[in-house]
Amino acid sequence: MSPESQDRRQIERRRTFGIISHPDAGKTTLTEKLLLFGGAIQLAGTVKARKASRYAASDWMAMEKERGISVSTSVMSFSYAGCAINLLDTPGHRDFSEDTYRVLTAVDSALLVIDAAKGVESQTQKLMDVCRMRSTPVITFINKLDREGLPPLELLADIETRLGLECAPLTWPVGTGSTFKGVYDIQKEELRLFSPTHGGKIRETQMLITDLYGEDPDIRLGAQADALRADMELLREAGTPFSRDRYLAGRQTPVFFGSAVNNFGVRELLDSFILLAPAPLPRPALTETGDLRAVAPDEEEFSGVVFKIQANMDKAHRDRMAFMRVCSGRFTRGMRLKHLRTGKTAAVSNAVLFMAQDRAGVESAYPGDIIGLAGHGVIKIGDTFTERSYLKYTGIPNFAPELFRRVRLRNPLKSKQLQKGLEQLAEEGAVQLFRPLANNDYILGAVGMLQFEVIISRLAGEYAVDAAYEEAKIEAARWVACADKAVFEDFTRRYRQDLAVDAEGALAYLAPSVWKLEATEERWPAVEFRTTREIG
Ligand code: G4P
Repeated sequence: MSPESQDRRQIERRRTFGIISHPDAGKTTLTEKLLLFGGAIQLAGTVKARKASRYAASDWMAMEKERGISVSTSVMSFSYAGCAINLLDTPGHRDFSEDTYRVLTAVDSALLVIDAAKGVESQTQKLMDVCRMRSTPVITFINKLDREGLPPLELLADIETRLGLECAPLTWPVGTGSTFKGVYDIQKEELRLFSPTHGGKIRETQMLITDLYGEDPDIRLGAQADALRADMELLREAGTPFSRDRYLAGRQTPVFFGSAVNNFGVRELLDSFILLAPAPLPRPALTETGDLRAVAPDEEEFSGVVFKIQANMDKAHRDRMAFMRVCSGRFTRGMRLKHLRTGKTAAVSNAVLFMAQDRAGVESAYPGDIIGLAGHGVIKIGDTFTERSYLKYTGIPNFAPELFRRVRLRNPLKSKQLQKGLEQLAEEGAVQLFRPLANNDYILGAVGMLQFEVIISRLAGEYAVDAAYEEAKIEAARWVACADKAVFEDFTRRYRQDLAVDAEGALAYLAPSVWKLEATEERWPAVEFRTTREIG
């Protein structure tokens, strides 16, 4: 095989995806089962044990100690049936939805987990909004069929109306809860039966029924056999046929049913996932002339984009890890890369590839892979790296925060450390930092309250800064811009009291009330008040 076709083969076998769900729907459990199937972990409970301490501010310090683990679980790589799969962890808690958004910019597809008893929940809707913004293809897994749940048709209708996605079921459950008997694979036309074991758990049997209209279903399922036949007929006549094109366009979702904790329907899901989910796709980037161009993964020149930063992984060294998605070309250890924002070129010898258990040194990485670059603060979210060309990947926005706090330093001698800590945490995307034009305050903006708690405890733990919060009389923030220079000068002069610059130096209007924001927008039609700002 020529080197080019070898590289192409490597790209085609890659699947980079994230699992999204409302908390408690079963994301951690499913992740664990996928890793078990991929041979990346040997023992059930490994991922779960780590989950317990995640994202609770009081556990942040303990989490720090285990940082090696929690970081390596941010990206999990495993192989299955010849495919190299990269699973990117997305925080399920709504307070960290910005982080989730950034992670979703680095995937090619997503897996949505829904609890069969609850249907579409609030966080499911928010995460799907994010997928829709990028037309991310989504496969749905309806979980917990071993518990009493909503009827399957009702669940599909719920997804269609509330998520605006056509549903094409590829498997179908036989019963739910106490009557749950197994999952029928609609494409392969075979029924996999399950049997309960002593501890109340249910076990996947090797029992496969391949003729739905023979005697076996009646013997095994009793009256449920006819119900299944009726369901299949209904789906054939009135159901939505699966279309890979519509799935890839983000308009249709193939649906699977099962029970993650019992390992039900997970293999069917994984087998279909590697067939259906897209290999790395072209990504839009700005060229030197300002034109947008789709960069194909099989282009020869290496390019990648940083979508996540994690600081202070090793406290002794004040280091930070930048997570970069490879978008085109091939990365090899020691390669010289150009950092677009600084214009500097340097050899990258300390890159790491994330494995499920452990970080392993990268020799080479292909489009779809995530590599970690250790740095000392020069790399930011949204940064592009190439071998030589000018390319700037787009589409990683900051969202206007909804909650605000003023930071009060308890020990005035630590003001330098406070500034440094806040700037670094803001660069990491853990919180948004605003510096008012009119005074020296530090205003923090967040999407969820937990973010504030994490910042205080990280300031104490990583920067030895004792800080607290005060109420800030701010209800909304908007990034402002205006094509008319004179109008903008007038606006900034009049509203100086309410203007601030963010960590990237962009000007924002911090409105004392929503009412005031609306009035100001009305009064200044030439000024743009933006709810998002592109990073980088
Ligand atoms: P999350 O990451 O989406 O928040 O969900 P997670 O996997 O932690 O699952 C949430 C709860 O749902 C867990 O129970 C888990 O065991 C349970 N669960 C996951 N899949 C299934 C399933 O197929 N059937 C049933 N019946 N339950 C399922 P828990 O009580 O919070 O934890 P644990 O006691 O199991 O450790």
